Amino acid sequence: MKGVVLAGGLGTRLYPLTTITNKHLLPVYDRPMIFYPIQTLAAAGLRELLIVTGGNNARDFHRLLGDGHQFGLERLQYAYQKGEGGIADALRLAERFAHGDRLVIMLGDNIIEKSIRRHVTAYRRQQRGARLLLKQVANPRDYGVAEFVGDRLARIIEKPKQPPSRFAVTGIYFYDATVFDIIRTLKPSPRGELEITDVNNAYLQRGELEYDILDGWWADAGASPAKLLETNLLVARQRGVAF
Ligand code: G1P
Repeated sequence: MKGVVLAGGLGTRLYPLTTITNKHLLPVYDRPMIFYPIQTLAAAGLRELLIVTGGNNARDFHRLLGDGHQFGLERLQYAYQKGEGGIADALRLAERFAHGDRLVIMLGDNIIEKSIRRHVTAYRRQQRGARLLLKQVANPRDYGVAEFVGDRLARIIEKPKQPPSRFAVTGIYFYDATVFDIIRTLKPSPRGELEITDVNNAYLQRGELEYDILDGWWADAGASPAKLLETNLLVARQRGVAF
């Protein structure tokens, strides 16, 4: 299994913080945001990672992260997403890197409290398809949201006005190599992006989507300046900083 961190986009929700840099390079407590998803994947046992960047700061990622040895990685590769095509469009660039292997994808602004090792193990045992990590949130309208029939996952709805549950789809996804065939069938959504929610619903329709509930806190650090501040505080407290 290999890891992919998606760190493209223009970060418009954080302007002017992101006018001259990429949001994933902004500080979260004592390190750049992108360190956290890389550490999460490395701590879960992944040794080969691809970072998909975009915008004007792609070279800064290389200067910061180099060959990934500081994270205990064996291989760190880079890909560049042109434009603002969305999460599934960025993932498309991982096809050659994946080379038929399964992938754990993590959005570069998703920071979590605990290890995902048990979810990686569960996915290794899963015969086929995809796996999501869900988390109960107070503001489900801001996310992809799970609709359940009993405890069966029936559908994912992207940013629903009337959320069918409080379970958000976190930015941690487990996919097999058929994800690239699914991406090739996608059409841009009204916001002009290839939506990862459409990928997940395609797996659902095949009966190949499983899920776990994520333990500990989950922070979508790049969603707004307030979320970025909150994430800084969560991480600082976890490190024992008292205010
Ligand atoms: C994206 C996904 C959404 C998911 C969220 C997690 O939202 O489209 O389904 O819940 O990431 O961070 P976006 O950040 O593109 O608004």
